[in-house]
Amino acid sequence: MDIIEWIGIIVLCYFGYLFIKECKVIIFGNPNVQQKYGKGCWALVTGATDGIGKGFCQEFSRQGVNVCIVARNKSKAENLIEELKKINGKPQYKIVIADFQNCLQESFFQKIYQEVKDLDIGLLVNNVGVLTVGEFHKTSDVDQQNQIIINCIPVVFMTKYILPLLKKRQRSGVINLSSLAGRFSNPYYQVYSATKAFNDYFTRSLQIEVENVDFLSLRPGFVQTAMVKNQTDLLTVSTQQCVTSALFQLGNKEATAGHIIHRIQTLIFTLVEGKLMDIISPIIAKQLYKQKH
Ligand SMILES: NC(=O)c1ccc[n+]([C@@H]2O[C@H](COP(=O)([O-])OP(=O)(O)OC[C@H]3O[C@@H](n4cnc5c(N)ncnc54)[C@H](OP(=O)(O)O)[C@@H]3O)[C@@H](O)[C@H]2O)c1
Repeated sequence: MDIIEWIGIIVLCYFGYLFIKECKVIIFGNPNVQQKYGKGCWALVTGATDGIGKGFCQEFSRQGVNVCIVARNKSKAENLIEELKKINGKPQYKIVIADFQNCLQESFFQKIYQEVKDLDIGLLVNNVGVLTVGEFHKTSDVDQQNQIIINCIPVVFMTKYILPLLKKRQRSGVINLSSLAGRFSNPYYQVYSATKAFNDYFTRSLQIEVENVDFLSLRPGFVQTAMVKNQTDLLTVSTQQCVTSALFQLGNKEATAGHIIHRIQTLIFTLVEGKLMDIISPIIAKQLYKQKH
């Protein structure tokens, strides 16, 4: 066999492997949280009052899962609970007020733990995150500092404090919000990208380390939320599309871009990763940056 044939076989094997992985998800995938983690379990969501976090809460409510939200804005949280009760009045709902900007303060996570320790938490969604975008040397120190703190510290310590509760159960899950931006270099989104890569490596490492807990690193592309100025285009999915596709894959994969559009986008980016991606990525990022400023 010559070298071309060998390359052909390797490429075929790679696609065969991806195909088998997909078949596994299609056959065994199930978005129903209670079927996965038990009837009457709770889902705890951080940054729940808007965007993707709110999308998770709405889906949990539709499924009849009890929802505990960790949010900084009390009235926004109360309004969300009213909204969820209209979707489904049967589940229980709980609010924990916490501003993750202050999460370096002593006992911050212990206080949250004290409020939730008696709940049968089957699923933790570490969703809270912020975005600072701009030419690096012009960005504000405070914004960058907050971005690193809010995007990295809660995901580690919420997981650390809630994990003993999750491990007590037969099976449970953790979804951590990474991003497509955490997989490739992103000018103007430099620090954001780095924090999202942090989330991704942290989650995938725990998936190997911890037994009986399904860890999922969720790495979507653009999702229509305030973070991306509610943009709508071919590559932007709704929060519901993002959330249901993630729940479908939870337990069958350690990482996913979620919706099929973002998975195809990720596959294409991965195939051209390296030098070509280093050329394409700044062009896309510059375009996006100009559109939004
Ligand atoms: N949207 C996208 O295209 C996209 C793509 C990939 C990954 N992600 C990731 O998905 C996650 C959610 O993003 P999103 O687009 O849904 O953002 P979003 O619409 O801006 O919502 C962010 C949520 O986090 C809350 N939050 C922000 N700072 C907080 C703090 N200091 N303490 C407590 N809560 C705080 C907000 O609370 P308030 O309601 O009080 O403002 C809001 O509920 C983030 O981790 C983000 O990196 C987003």
